[in-house]
Amino acid sequence: MRIYDIIKKKRDGFELSREEIEFFIKGYVDDSIYDYQASALCMAIFFKGMTEKETAYLTLAMANSGDTVDLSRFGDKTVDKHSTGGVGDKTTLIVAPIVTSLGCVMAKMSGRGLGHTGGTVDKLESIKGFNVELTPEEFFSQVEKNGVAVVGQSGNLTPADKKLYALRDVTATVDSIPLIASSIMSKKLAAGSHTIVLDVKYGSGAFMKTAEEAEVLATEMVKIGKNCGRNMAAVITNMERPLGKNIGNSLEVIEAIEVLKGNGPEDLKEVCLALASQIVSLCEKISESEARVLCEDALASGKALEKFKEWIASQGGDSSWIENTDLFPKAKYKFEIKAENDGYISKMDAESIGIASVILGAGRETKEDTIDMSAGIVLNKKTGDRIAKGDNLATLYTCNETSFNSAKEKYLSALKFSENSISEKALIFGIIK
Ligand code: URA
Repeated sequence: MRIYDIIKKKRDGFELSREEIEFFIKGYVDDSIYDYQASALCMAIFFKGMTEKETAYLTLAMANSGDTVDLSRFGDKTVDKHSTGGVGDKTTLIVAPIVTSLGCVMAKMSGRGLGHTGGTVDKLESIKGFNVELTPEEFFSQVEKNGVAVVGQSGNLTPADKKLYALRDVTATVDSIPLIASSIMSKKLAAGSHTIVLDVKYGSGAFMKTAEEAEVLATEMVKIGKNCGRNMAAVITNMERPLGKNIGNSLEVIEAIEVLKGNGPEDLKEVCLALASQIVSLCEKISESEARVLCEDALASGKALEKFKEWIASQGGDSSWIENTDLFPKAKYKFEIKAENDGYISKMDAESIGIASVILGAGRETKEDTIDMSAGIVLNKKTGDRIAKGDNLATLYTCNETSFNSAKEKYLSALKFSENSISEKALIFGIIK
């Protein structure tokens, strides 16, 4: 077999066989296929697409290109969730305790933030003492004891995806549905959970700019997972504006705790309940409406909050910070952005708001950057809200006073105003099963 023939076959629009796809992935990982050949094939896939079969073979080849996690000792109750990335997305911190307080088992690997989107692992590390680097033995023993553990990605999981994703990033081949679907699903399959629920976001702060594109991606990923014997669902959610009010690591943890205490913003609570209900329904084999009642009760009764405290303490976190969120260190400086006119906010560009929070120190522009855990933005007004001249639109927090001007400029560039009220798109566009 020759990689040249495989590239040419895809370039001419023909379907690749399982053997050809496996040959490509194996060769790319062992360096016998070069970057320029892999780039040419990715570009051919970008233009010609892939059939359902080809996408499934590519996903499996990448999933099996390195280590895989064996969660079989926990039976069929293992669950995972994945978000395609957004701004202010702290849903794992709420969904994990809800579903594990109801008997699901979550042994999860999460990522760090890069660019305008945050990462769960960084958020968890803003809690004093919380350890995201458990040995495999510690990880499994936490899951055994508490039904939940969340750690950073370690080991040699999906090396093919790591290499290919880095290549796609610099060859303008990221935004291809079969390449995104196989990239995400290879990692989820390798991570071993039986039930996988995806939060596929659309809008300015997301990969998929429209709900229709997100639906195509979600449908593709659900099909792949089902064909590999997993319970699957995808919730398509709105990322036209950030989720909740708080952006930034400790600010987002504090907001998640607020939701677990029965408060917090409605949009955040609603997305969490939608995701948790899908997980519980698939895991416990009950209807969505029965699952929803259980999830709402876990929140209202404080059961999920208790689970959260247990989980945080078991990974070394100081649970007194959950009782009293004033213990989270505060940013040295704060700055309010005021409205200059009366009217309504008609649009918020979530990506620019994410970048404004990175400027304040809440995220990384490169993998090597360090994070200011206390930095970020609290949105006091969101899309659709009526504003009066002088109202506080948002409060910026940072330990680096010199970042305020450019963060403010970036933040204001994200907003559009109108004189009249506007109607908002639905928070949840649909559910694919
Ligand atoms: N996220 C991934 O993990 N892979 C992609 O290709 C795109 C987003």
